[in-house]
Amino acid sequence: MFTVETAATAAYVVAALLFILALAGLSKHETSKAGNTFGMAGMAVALIATVGLALDRHIEPLGLGLLVGAMAIGAAIGLWRARVVEMTGMPELIALLHSFVGLAAVLVGWNGYLHVEAHPDGAEAAHLGAEGLLGIHSAEVFVGVFIGAVTFTGSIVANLKLSARIKSTPLMLPGKNALNVGALVLFFALTVWFVVSPALWLLIVVTVLALLLGWHLVASIGGGDMPVVVSMLNSYSGWAAAASGFLLSNDLLIITGALVGSSGAYLSYIMCKAMNRSFISVIAGGFGIEAGPSEDKDYGEHREITAEGAAELLSSATSVIITPGYGMAVAQAQYGVADLTRKLRERGVEVRFGIHPVAGRLPGHMNVLLAEAKVPYDIVLEMDEINDDFDGTSVVLVIGANDTVNPAASEDPGSPIAGMPVLTVWNADNVIVFKRSMASGYAGVQNPLFFRENTQMLFGDAKDRVDAINAALESLVRN
Ligand code: TAP
Repeated sequence: MFTVETAATAAYVVAALLFILALAGLSKHETSKAGNTFGMAGMAVALIATVGLALDRHIEPLGLGLLVGAMAIGAAIGLWRARVVEMTGMPELIALLHSFVGLAAVLVGWNGYLHVEAHPDGAEAAHLGAEGLLGIHSAEVFVGVFIGAVTFTGSIVANLKLSARIKSTPLMLPGKNALNVGALVLFFALTVWFVVSPALWLLIVVTVLALLLGWHLVASIGGGDMPVVVSMLNSYSGWAAAASGFLLSNDLLIITGALVGSSGAYLSYIMCKAMNRSFISVIAGGFGIEAGPSEDKDYGEHREITAEGAAELLSSATSVIITPGYGMAVAQAQYGVADLTRKLRERGVEVRFGIHPVAGRLPGHMNVLLAEAKVPYDIVLEMDEINDDFDGTSVVLVIGANDTVNPAASEDPGSPIAGMPVLTVWNADNVIVFKRSMASGYAGVQNPLFFRENTQMLFGDAKDRVDAINAALESLVRN
C-alpha cells in the first residue's frame, strides 16, 4: 500500500543514488558541474522527503515552524556565504561547515540520551530493552557524541589556523602522543562503562574529553599538513553524520555519512601519499613528528630584478615553466599570467605550467584558476610530469608559491616540511620569484631558494608585476 512512509523510503534511495552520482561526477574536471547538480538534486529530494515525513507524523505546529524556519535561515546563510566566499577562503569555510556537522552529531547524541537512557522506566527505554537493543542505543549515543565533539573542536581549530587567526605552527605539548593514546583508551573504557550503566556524568565526561582531544589533535598538526587535516575532518564529519543516522534510524543519513566518511578518508590518503606523509601520523595528530621548526640560518643576500629586466630575460628564453601558488590566487593574477603565456607562445617560447598537488589552499586550486583564465589544459602539467624538465629550462616564474618550491624539503632533514616532494625549480638556468616580501609561506619556514645564485626576487603584488611584464614585453616588440 502506498503511504508517505514508503514514498519517503523510495525518495531516500533516489537521493542516495544521486549522492553516489555526485561523487562520481566530482572525480573528474569535465564532469564536476554535472556532479554538483546531482548533489543538489539529491539534497532537494532528501529535504522534501524529510518535511513530507514530518507532516505525515503530525508533528506539532511549533516543531514544524522550527523545522521550516531552520531550513529557511540555513538556506539563506548558505546562499549568501557561497556567493561571497573567495576561492582562497574555501578551506576555512569548509572547516567551519564541518564543525556544524560535528555539533549536530553531539546534539543528536545528547537528545537520544535524554529521550531514552535518562528515563529508564519510560516507554522508549522499555521498548528498546524488550528487544535487547538498549545497550546498542547507549553505544550509539556515546560513539556519536565522541566523534561529533572531536570533529567540532578540531574543525574550529582548523578554521582558526586556515584564516590565520591563530598561528599555524604545531602545538608541541610534552608527551602529546601519550595524551592522544590515553584519551582513546579512556574513551573505550568509558564506552563499556556507559553501555553497562548509562549515567549522565559519563556522557558529560566523554563530551569534554572529545572536545579537548579534537582541539589537541588539530592544534598539534603543522601548517604544511593542513590540507590533509581538512579532508580528514571531512571524513570525521561523515562518520559523525552516520552515527547520528543510526540514532535517528535514518538510512539516508547513514549512507550519506558513510559516503562522506570514506571518500574523505581516501582523499586524505591520496594527499598524504602526494606529500610523502604517513597517513597514520597525520590522522593521529602529528603522531611521531617531534621536529621543531629549523633554526634561523643565515642564507646570505638575495638579488632583485625589475619587471623590465624580467621581460628581457623572458624574451630571450627558449623555454619557460610557470609554477603558481597561493599568492597568484590572492593577487588574482591568473588573467595576466594567461596573457603573458599567450604573448610568449606567440614569440615561439615553449611555456608550460608545473602544478604542485597542494599549491594554493585546496586541492585543484591552481588548475581551476588557470582554467578560468583559459590557459590550455595540455600545457598545465602535474609535478611528477614536469619535475625532470626544470634542468635545461631557461626561466622559471615562481608566481606566489613558496613552500611548494622549497629546496629545504629535500635537502634539510630537520625542516618541518622535510620529505614533502617539491617542484625542483632551482635546477633551471634562471628563477624569478614573485612575492611581496621575504616573508615565509604557509608552513612558516624560510626558503633557501630565494638566496640561490640563479634566483632573482621580483617584489610586489603578483598581478601588478605580471601586468608590468606584459607592458614591458609589448614595448620591447614596438621598439
Ligand atoms: P605558500 O607557501 O602559502 O606561499 C604563498 C606565497 O605567496 C607567500 O610566500 C606570499 O609571500 C606570496 N603572496 C601572497 N600574496 C601575494 C600577492 N598578492 N602577490 C604576490 N605574492 C603573494 O603557497 P604555496 O607554495 O602555494 O604552498 C601552499 C601551502 O599551503 C603549503 O604549505 C600547503 O601545505 C598549504 N595548504 C595547502 C592546501 C591545499 S589542499 N592546497 C590547503 C591548506 C594549506 P608574501 O607575503 O611575501 O607576498
